[in-house]
Amino acid sequence: MSAVTPLYEGKAKIIYPTDNPEVLLSYFKDDATAFNAQKKGQIIGKGAMNCAISAHLFKKLASSGIPTHFIDQPSANEMRVKAVSIIPIEVVVRNIAAGSLCQQTGLALGTALPFALVDFYYKDDALGDPMLSPDRILLLNIATTDQIDQLRQMALSINQILTEFFQSCSITLVDFKLEFGFDSRQQLLLADEISPDTCRLWDQAATDTAARVLDKDRFRQDLGNVEQAYAQVMERVLSQVV
Ligand code: TMP
Ligand code: ASP
Repeated sequence: MSAVTPLYEGKAKIIYPTDNPEVLLSYFKDDATAFNAQKKGQIIGKGAMNCAISAHLFKKLASSGIPTHFIDQPSANEMRVKAVSIIPIEVVVRNIAAGSLCQQTGLALGTALPFALVDFYYKDDALGDPMLSPDRILLLNIATTDQIDQLRQMALSINQILTEFFQSCSITLVDFKLEFGFDSRQQLLLADEISPDTCRLWDQAATDTAARVLDKDRFRQDLGNVEQAYAQVMERVLSQVV
């Protein structure tokens, strides 16, 4: 890990400056949290696995025309990324009902949604990341109407690419969370990470509902074999040429 003073430390990553102000180093930690950090733990090897999975998925998305912050992966836990100012919105895309959608709507776990649902949440730990409507985003001056439309369109394009990609890994992409930011030229880039921490991923070969879970729900719900699930995702993702 770098001896440089971090610019920022989050729950799962540490961001370091580099000699180039347009480039940052993102260090992926083994630390895991859930329920707005009320539950804390470690998933051994998670940092390196999430870094490798994210790097591969960012490459796939870039080759499919999605602008991302990813530059390269200089070491197992580190990713060089373009510096962006992060928009404080977590954009969640859902294909199948799970998690908070089930809790808040009563839809049964596993219900296939008739269209990909895009939900916005305020990236604010102190407030507990509440859901935002487009009007509330405008009210808080977080993004313009055009930018909200752009976020939605990019998220839906990413969903199409990743759904097909995970399908080729025999994994169902249930839902996932994205973050975006603006670079120094005001270009909108996909940022943060895409990993079993930020996606729900179900193994299509599994025969029961607990065994199918290959993502952070194993940690959230104490399902066990967390490291093995992340390793399974990594193996399948990295085996796909992008
Ligand atoms: P949810 O069902 O809890 O709203 O989560 C939807 C998706 O977003 C799921 O794939 C997990 C991911 N997610 C994050 O990446 N970070 C978060 O803080 C939360 C709450 C969810
Ligand atoms: N990452 C979030 C947290 O700790 C929540 C989650 O992923 O469940 O707080």
